Amino acid sequence: PALARAESRSPCDGQTPVSCFIPTRDSLLWSGVRTSGMGVGCHRELLLLLLVVGMPASLAGSQPQQQRKWPVPYRRFDYRPKTDPYCQARYTFCPTGCPIPAMKDEDVIEVYRLQAPVWEFKYGDLLGHLNIMHDAVGFKSSLTGKNYTMEWYELFQLGNCTFPHLRPDMDAPFWCNQGAACFYEGIDDVHWKENGTLVLVTTISGTMFNQMAKWVQYDNETGIYYETWTVRASPDKHAVVWFESYECSKFILRTYQKLADLGAVFNKIQTNYTSITLFTGEPIYLGNETSIFGPLGNKTVAAAIRDFYYPFKSHQSIEEFFLNVLKIVDQVVLNHQFYLFYNLDYWLLPIKFPYIKITYEEIPLPNEDNTWVGL
Ligand SMILES: *[C@@H]1O[C@H](CO)[C@@H](O)[C@H](O)[C@H]1NC(C)=O
Ligand SMILES: *[C@@H]1O[C@H](CO)[C@@H](O)[C@H](O)[C@H]1NC(C)=O
Ligand SMILES: *[C@@H]1O[C@H](CO)[C@@H](O)[C@H](O)[C@H]1NC(C)=O
Ligand SMILES: *[C@@H]1O[C@H](CO)[C@@H](O)[C@H](O)[C@H]1NC(C)=O
Ligand SMILES: *[C@@H]1O[C@H](CO)[C@@H](O)[C@H](O)[C@H]1NC(C)=O
Ligand SMILES: *[C@@H]1O[C@H](CO)[C@@H](O)[C@H](O)[C@H]1NC(C)=O
Ligand SMILES: *[C@@H]1O[C@H](CO)[C@@H](O)[C@H](O)[C@H]1NC(C)=O
Repeated sequence: PALARAESRSPCDGQTPVSCFIPTRDSLLWSGVRTSGMGVGCHRELLLLLLVVGMPASLAGSQPQQQRKWPVPYRRFDYRPKTDPYCQARYTFCPTGCPIPAMKDEDVIEVYRLQAPVWEFKYGDLLGHLNIMHDAVGFKSSLTGKNYTMEWYELFQLGNCTFPHLRPDMDAPFWCNQGAACFYEGIDDVHWKENGTLVLVTTISGTMFNQMAKWVQYDNETGIYYETWTVRASPDKHAVVWFESYECSKFILRTYQKLADLGAVFNKIQTNYTSITLFTGEPIYLGNETSIFGPLGNKTVAAAIRDFYYPFKSHQSIEEFFLNVLKIVDQVVLNHQFYLFYNLDYWLLPIKFPYIKITYEEIPLPNEDNTWVGL
């Protein structure tokens, strides 16, 4: 959500490195949600309060499945397709973006973890206050003194990446769900520091930065679709993960890992990230758009998917997004079913207790001894 950037553009090589962030209530970039002002157990209540009855999931027409590899690998593509003109961004994606500059090999570059709440959602006492955290990474060149911000987010905002459009002229739900990397000059210290984090995580050479830049280009061209949900068998730490999300914090985690692979050594600090997780029995593969909604598709399955997404049609603002999440909760709790769209395929999830959870948990920086306890 949103960071709506001021329209005053600053070219990356220009002399005015200021890019201005104005978080707005209904522009929406997601990276995370964390509770504030309430004790740790409070997100649990969010869902428990909505629970009605626990009944075993009924698997509609379960057929023998081929052996699967879990989690289902996130699909990479050869190139990024043009977005469909139907998808119109309310806020321009990456308005002050620029190509990643080449650094001198001998430069020394500081790398910062950036995290900030972009929106605070209040839904009576039920949800408490949820701060949506957005993750980014900052770089500062010692040779030029210039600094930069890099992030990955939705082209058409979170609602569009999570719920499709049901268009009267089309059978298949229509998705505006691309996400991409954005690199621009400047770090807005106040924005990140005030209610979030701006902390040095490592220092790298110009050579490493340039290698990272090549990887970013590859990653940005091949990892195209935003995936909101993490899907697991249970809250247990060792439970099977069926699907990993693919959103802004995952890009930051991949970037840190890439830097570690290139030799960066990270400071010891605690780094938490938010996820929205669904809990389910083994997912059932349904097919892709063509096989389900095409002429040979199973009309019952096609109608069930449209019905599932019908209540989530309007998702302009972050408020509406979360209201839709609540509707999803209602629906999954009552019916024990969720139709997931992942890698352009549809899956039926036999949802089970505790259904859905929003967490803000640690994922350590690379190279760290995981038994280390933060201070
Ligand atoms: C369509 O799918 C439903 C639910 O999986 C199943 O019960 C039904 O037999 C299928 N129909 C056809 C014609 O394959
Ligand atoms: C979501 O997609 C619809 C359809 O293109 C578009 O009208 C709307 O502006 C998008 N929402 C945002 C917040 O960009
Ligand atoms: C990533 O791809 C998007 C979409 O093509 C583009 O707008 C953006 O500039 C790219 N980001 C980087 C860092 O190259
Ligand atoms: C980034 O550069 C701006 C403009 O020079 C400066 O105000 C800010 O403090 C710098 N931030 C960091 C983290 O280096
Ligand atoms: C930080 O939080 C306070 C209290 O919620 C709020 O008034 C302020 O605008 C926030 N600052 C930023 C930069 O979002
Ligand atoms: C959809 O699935 C069918 C049958 O499994 C497959 O032949 C086809 O290539 C898939 N289409 C796309 C666009 O992935
Ligand atoms: C960060 O994550 C750790 C472990 O996952 C957790 O114990 C801690 O409470 C989290 N911090 C916050 C501020 O939520």
